[in-house]
Amino acid sequence: MKILLLSADPARVDELRASLADTEGRHALSGAPLVMLADPAALRQEAPDLLLVDAREPEPALWPQLEKLAQALPQLVTAVVSENQSPEFLRLAMRAGVREVLPPGSGEVARLVGRVEQHLLRGAVHDKGRVLAFLPTKGSSGATFLATSLAYALSQHQGKSVLLIDLNLQVGDAAFFVSDKAPEFTLADVCRQIHRLDPSFLAGSATQVHPNFSVLASPGDPEQALEVKAEHVVRILKAAILHYDFVLLDVDRALDAVSIAALDHADLIFPVLQQSLPFLRDAARLQKIFASLGYGQERIRPVLNRFSKSEQVGVEDIEKSLGLKVWRTVPNSYHAVVASINQGVPLAALETAHHPVVAAVNGMADDLAGTAQSHESWLRRLLHH
Ligand SMILES: Nc1ncnc2c1ncn2[C@@H]1O[C@H](COP(=O)(O)OP(=O)(O)OP(=O)(O)O)[C@@H](O)[C@H]1O
Ligand SMILES: [Mg+2]
Repeated sequence: MKILLLSADPARVDELRASLADTEGRHALSGAPLVMLADPAALRQEAPDLLLVDAREPEPALWPQLEKLAQALPQLVTAVVSENQSPEFLRLAMRAGVREVLPPGSGEVARLVGRVEQHLLRGAVHDKGRVLAFLPTKGSSGATFLATSLAYALSQHQGKSVLLIDLNLQVGDAAFFVSDKAPEFTLADVCRQIHRLDPSFLAGSATQVHPNFSVLASPGDPEQALEVKAEHVVRILKAAILHYDFVLLDVDRALDAVSIAALDHADLIFPVLQQSLPFLRDAARLQKIFASLGYGQERIRPVLNRFSKSEQVGVEDIEKSLGLKVWRTVPNSYHAVVASINQGVPLAALETAHHPVVAAVNGMADDLAGTAQSHESWLRRLLHH
């Protein structure tokens, strides 16, 4: 594994190197001045697996530089070495996409290297991101809300790198559910220049809405939408899974060549429905289409949104009609959800983890990400202050 040590002070680079002396031979260690942080292109060239940044006297510019870096190189694990373990410092680091803040001169640095190594070894077995497709069974079922909320949970709580691609080509609104930034580029821009497709072009075309979480926005107009062809989407997905841990798709419920190509390449498909007969009919119709497209039942995970126990149509009715288990239910919480969407702020950033909708989405993220290790370590330390 390649480890790059950065510090404004060469003596500290040597100190960090000394703390990893036991692992030398197994890892390639190199040191560079801290100014290298301002040059993501040089860092990409260097291609480290782990970046250790000495931040014992951090300049204010450090955090925005780290945040930019997390955007440019989402797979890179970055850790900061500092005596400062205050909640404020940890929060700044976490927001900048830093995986760990380690005290200097202890065994912590060597232990982190061990953990990252394990992570990379596991990654070598399954080094592809997973593609998760959300699809409304009828209009306004909540597919965009759930896809954006899950993307936020996977990136902010599970420390995963996430790209959400809005495939509602004519009227997609996913970026606005989680951000007030107007997207500079859209999926149509990427398709127009598909010959330039590589990880940095893709990352640069997506709008970063949070550290580790970017949205490739919908073209948002019918003429631009025509630029997006099924074969472009397939190429983009193949590039994206090499670069991100999770690629979430907000799929248009009007099934056409583009949406079917996207569903074909999804590891899991989440049809979103609610408790009424029209939803039930459309969900059953969709399930027939999935079967005729040859999608195995193990790939389909129906999500029942705005769930309430007192509705006439219950979970068993739905399961019987679909011939499938409902994977998760998400409770109804109209005012909170509308407030989140209207402000363009993820619900989990407005409410606590106890809010029933936030808890339901976090439960999905836990399940999909497997372990919640990095989240737990951050949380533990924030809570211990
Ligand atoms: N769990 C929930 N509780 C209460 N209201 C919800 C919930 N989920 C979604 N909504 C409401 O449903 C509306 C539609 O949600 P959303 O836009 O995500 O649906 P969609 O399936 O993507 O629809 P479209 O077909 O237009 O893309 C939201 O504006 C929100 O008000
Ligand atoms: Mg939608």
